[in-house]
Amino acid sequence: MTAQIIDGKVIAAQVLGEVQERVTSLRGRGIEPGLVVVLVGEDPASVSYVRGKMRDAGEVGLRSETLRLPAETSQEDLLRLVHNLNEDPSWHGVLVQLPLPPHIDERAIILALKPEKDVDGLHPVNVGRLFRGEPGFVSCTPAGVIQMLLRSGFDPAGKHAVVCGRSNLVGKPLVGLLMQKAVGGNATVTVCHTGTPDLAAHTRQADILIAVMGRPGTITADMVRYGAVVIDVGVNAIPDASKKSGQRLVGDVDYAAVAEKAAAITPVPGGVGPMTRAMLMWNTVIAASGGPDGHIAPAHSVGAGHSRG
Ligand code: GUN
Repeated sequence: MTAQIIDGKVIAAQVLGEVQERVTSLRGRGIEPGLVVVLVGEDPASVSYVRGKMRDAGEVGLRSETLRLPAETSQEDLLRLVHNLNEDPSWHGVLVQLPLPPHIDERAIILALKPEKDVDGLHPVNVGRLFRGEPGFVSCTPAGVIQMLLRSGFDPAGKHAVVCGRSNLVGKPLVGLLMQKAVGGNATVTVCHTGTPDLAAHTRQADILIAVMGRPGTITADMVRYGAVVIDVGVNAIPDASKKSGQRLVGDVDYAAVAEKAAAITPVPGGVGPMTRAMLMWNTVIAASGGPDGHIAPAHSVGAGHSRG
């Protein structure tokens, strides 16, 4: 079997097209949707991620700005800025790029964001709403993974999803979405992590296998069931002398070997990454439209909110 490639760039372009329509409609109502990103320091990966976010925002016609602060910015100054952005009605979405320099308490900054402007879905109120099945902002990478699955015909409903990784940014919210009684959910979910003794015994059971460990090549072909759908969230820079930069990006999955067994697989780069940015734009238009309305997914699944049970 050679896997179908789930192309994140193509699906992200679809989502961005839908976002652009919403932006046009908001403008028609006199609302100029705005996204502001705060970047502290010069971490090269963060600089590159933020540049991508700004590019996508420009493409869909969102008003956007990056506020760049020096790495030595104090926590107090950053908190003051977040408070000001919270109160500025021209910004519907506020995102503080992570990681922050070590002298700043990330939790305090996230907690300072107004949940209704937290288009990153990281505020505990939004995380709580996600797990309770209530309307709220969902963090962008997990939301993007669910969109990729739905839009490529691999609805998680009734499937066994195995999530390898339990980060606050991706693993945990992904588990919340997959187990929810809602469109994009209704899966049976296993969560594996660094404390899981026999990882392969679990991954081999997966209909949908999602790798979020941040370690290159961790998921090898022997760990994957024939016909599984494999989503690789990992982005790891490894040395490559043939590249001008001296490195290249790979995921957590041994792509070439796993693609021989899987029914479908996401590449790195060009898989989940573009979806993360597209969902950030989506969340921003939701914020500008008056806030989360209970829909976890744009377009075809509008009308499907969370429910209990
Ligand atoms: N750093 C890497 N990914 C993300 C993200 O999705 N949101 C924020 N705020 N920082 C990140």
